[in-house]
Amino acid sequence: MAIRTILHYPDKRLRTPGVSVSDFGPEFQALFEDMAETMYAAPGVGLAAPQIGVAVRLFVIDIAGSDEPSELQVFVNPRIVEAVGELCWDEGCLSFPGVTEEIVRAERVTVHAQDRYGKPFVLEAEGLLAIAIQHENDHLDGKLMVDHLGMLKRRMIDRAMRKKAAEANL
Ligand code: NI
Repeated sequence: MAIRTILHYPDKRLRTPGVSVSDFGPEFQALFEDMAETMYAAPGVGLAAPQIGVAVRLFVIDIAGSDEPSELQVFVNPRIVEAVGELCWDEGCLSFPGVTEEIVRAERVTVHAQDRYGKPFVLEAEGLLAIAIQHENDHLDGKLMVDHLGMLKRRMIDRAMRKKAAEANL
């Protein structure tokens, strides 16, 4: 297992949509394990494969609090088939360190996905888990949290992140 580098906005690879996973062999298992390790090391509640520069439809989530036992959930080739209600949540993203913004998403979702071995499952989620699923699922389509914000906020975050990236490259 290895901790991978998490890409930060405005890295263009974050905009590359993921392709479906069809081979659940050792290479994929290693990727999955690296994803989990990288998410826990960050630490974060979710991580999508495009965030480590691997354009496949895979994300991991663990919404357990720091005083609760960890509960790793993996979603491969997910499809949100139903989304109802509205919920406003203060969201962050490992690709936008230091940024949190209120974003409105569906309150409950039904997702069809496969587990790490390719076995299909259906999950109904609400609250933070539903938010995390929608956020990570966006990453698989190259969509980012800023895309949900108004023009002004989006521009401010874009400018701050570009400045930070430029400073890091000095
Ligand atoms: Ni994110």
